[in-house]
Amino acid sequence: MKMWSGRFSQAQDADFEQWQRSFPFDRVLLPYEVAASKAHASALAKAGVLNGEELAATLHALEQIGREGVPVDDPAIEDVHHYVESRVVAIASEVGYKLHTGRSRNEQIATDLRLYVREQIDDITRLLTHLAMAFVQQAEAAGPTVMPAYTHLQRAEPVLIAHWLLAYMEMFLRDIERLGDCRKRVNVCPLGSGAVAGTILPLDREAIAEQLEFDAPTANSIDATSDRDFAIEFVQALSLIALHLSRWAGEFILFSTTEFGFVKLPEQYSTGSSAMPQKKNPDALELIRGKAGKVFADASALFIAAKGLPLAYNKDLQETQQPVFSAAQQVSSMLRVAAGFMAAVEFDYDRMRQAASHGFMNAQAAAAYLVNKGIPFRRAHELVGNAVRLAIEQGFELQQLSKADYALCGIDADEHFYNALALEEVLAIHNVPGGTAPARVREALQTAKEKLSQLFGVAHASA
Ligand code: ARG
Repeated sequence: MKMWSGRFSQAQDADFEQWQRSFPFDRVLLPYEVAASKAHASALAKAGVLNGEELAATLHALEQIGREGVPVDDPAIEDVHHYVESRVVAIASEVGYKLHTGRSRNEQIATDLRLYVREQIDDITRLLTHLAMAFVQQAEAAGPTVMPAYTHLQRAEPVLIAHWLLAYMEMFLRDIERLGDCRKRVNVCPLGSGAVAGTILPLDREAIAEQLEFDAPTANSIDATSDRDFAIEFVQALSLIALHLSRWAGEFILFSTTEFGFVKLPEQYSTGSSAMPQKKNPDALELIRGKAGKVFADASALFIAAKGLPLAYNKDLQETQQPVFSAAQQVSSMLRVAAGFMAAVEFDYDRMRQAASHGFMNAQAAAAYLVNKGIPFRRAHELVGNAVRLAIEQGFELQQLSKADYALCGIDADEHFYNALALEEVLAIHNVPGGTAPARVREALQTAKEKLSQLFGVAHASA
């Protein structure tokens, strides 16, 4: 039986009836709908609507429905709320019709979606910590090896490979924090809000919230039934994760080209070409980069669905479910692939070191040396710039120019000057917290590991 047929004398248009159903997609909310219904049933018993026997029968039916799992679609069922009510009636008969006393699907869908998002936040946080762990392990394995860092995609300054990998780690740590922050606003309980004005029964909202492990009941029934900020915020946070993953993928694709040759693509995460026998393509990375766009589209879809809606519940809100499901699934699978890739990937340390030793990346260090000798930086910059020009003409690196060449540029190049151009010295001068001096990177790695082991503990505790 429909949940609302009494006031209608005509049947719904058959096409419309099928078209407006959400059951084909909101079926996945079954576990949350069952949990929320159990909490509501207990509150109904406390309020005297169900006697002990009726409560037991209702809970027993709900437990069975939970065990049966996510159902297949059924064209006679409007949505997951309709499904659970119908199933309770099928199992426990007439008492099932009491379950909807004092509640509305408007508060139910808001509650189910919050429970879903909360669980996804915990799962995705766990996946992010696994990925960050893979970065830390690679950073540790790279030890003191070096590579060029780029600005404008031109060689800029040498850095430790570990320093570069830890840059990604920072993004993932922010993502974890952002999800944790979002979780606070997700974790409030709309149950007891009714359709819009609050339930008509003296339901113990605190107890319902507690039973579902929410921090508190929502404060305003109008807001509670119409708010989808939590879903928008969640998918925005997912968009940033997807953005970070796509930047990582883009850079690794570039670094895996023959031209760079820094990243050796793991065969487990690559695909061949049906036409060109020599090819090994970075498909995992390309798909991560490509799928990121879908997550951004989900974020836009949510904004657009919620934009301009008057208070409170409007059926438009049914359209906010699928973008949440699809973004969560997309990002979870991207994170799983990324973590596997990072555990398997290898770097060509020799080539990276070679690249770090060429391209005048010690020019700033040369200027810094002159500054230490009392020359104003802008003058030193100019002098070293002249030396770079001379070196380019001669096909040399700065350390290969002769003392006489330097004299031509107005630089007194003694032995200390040449020492300052050595790769190790260039790295060592970046000796600030957050800089690439090896001692600083070792500290940063240690800090990253500590943060991660804390998070790991937390992420697993909530599993
Ligand atoms: N399937 C609906 C949704 O997802 C449930 C709420 C329906 N409420 C209503 N007043 N028709 O939004």
